[in-house]
Order: sequence, then C-alpha cells, then structure tokens
Amino acid sequence: MLWLKAFHLIFMVTWFAGLFYLPRLFIYHLQASNDTEHERFCVMERKLFIIMSIGAVLTVTFGGWLLGSMPGLLATTWLQAKLLLVGLLIAYHGWCGVLVGLFRRREARHSDLWLRWFNEIPALLLIAIIILAVVRPQ
Ligand code: HEM
Repeated sequence: MLWLKAFHLIFMVTWFAGLFYLPRLFIYHLQASNDTEHERFCVMERKLFIIMSIGAVLTVTFGGWLLGSMPGLLATTWLQAKLLLVGLLIAYHGWCGVLVGLFRRREARHSDLWLRWFNEIPALLLIAIIILAVVRPQ
C-alpha cells in the first residue's frame, strides 16, 4: 500500500512538472522569430506533452489501484471532491494537448497575458487537491 502511494506521488510530480512548464513553453513559442525556432519549440512541446501524459496515466492508475484497495474511501466527501478536481485537471491536460496542435499549425491566437493566466490554473488545482488529500476537511 505504501509503495502504491509512493508511486502515485512520484508520477503526480512528473505530471505537474509538465503542467507547469508546457504553458511557459507556449509563452516562449509566441516570441519565436523564425522557422528553426518554431520547429524547435514544436519538438519540445510534443515531447513534454508525451512525458506528462505518461505521468497522468500512471498517477491515475496508481490512484485507482489505491482506491481499489480502500473502497470505503469512495464514500468520503474529500475524495469525491478530489476526484472532481482531478477531472478538471484532466480537462486542462487535454486543453494543453489542443494548444500543442494549434501552435504546431501556427493557428494559436492566444495572447501572452492569456497564456500567463492559463499557466496559473494547475497551481490552483494542485493546492486544492493536496489540501483535500492531506487535510481531508470534513
Ligand atoms: C483519478 C485520480 C486519483 C485517484 C483515484 C487518487 C486516489 C488516491 C487514494 C485512494 C489515495 C490514498 C488515500 C489514503 O491513504 O487514505 C491517494 C493519496 C494521495 N493522493 Fe491521490 N488520487 C488521484 C489523483 C491525485 C492527484 C492528481 C494528486 C495531486 C494533485 C493526488 C495527491 C495525493 C496525495 C498527496 C496523497 C497522499 C495523501 C496522504 O496519505 O496523506 N492524487 N490518492
């Protein structure tokens, strides 16, 4: 059980490293001034998205495995709220995937400011999910 939790947290950190850095790459990508730079950002974004997707799948796999070994937790409010926020996090992850495609096709029309606000969303979700998982407010 403790091993499952350890791997759940290890992959969660991998996932969040990507969620924090990919929107930052989009901000730098906006400033790319030639085709070589554009291509380099496309490769970095695609590779980072693949790595963070592996992190996401394994976080959810180990989380689901933990839940399978403690099914009673499903009745708790904190876990239900956590799963709801994890759902939002997965939607955000998918949105990042859409942006990777838009940037590759040079169709992204988002401003620098918009991307900076977009970049804050995973931090807010992280704070809320960690508080729910660790403090478990009633
Ligand atoms: C579908 C996705 C997820 C499921 C099913 C899931 C489920 C679980 C379960 C069952 C536990 C063990 C609770 C216990 O020991 O009593 C746990 C622990 C934990 N999870 Fe998740 N989790 C998921 C995603 C996440 C995400 C995305 C994060 C972080 C943003 C996260 C953070 C944590 C933390 C910090 C703990 C340790 C809590 C502690 O022992 O104090 N989980 N998770």
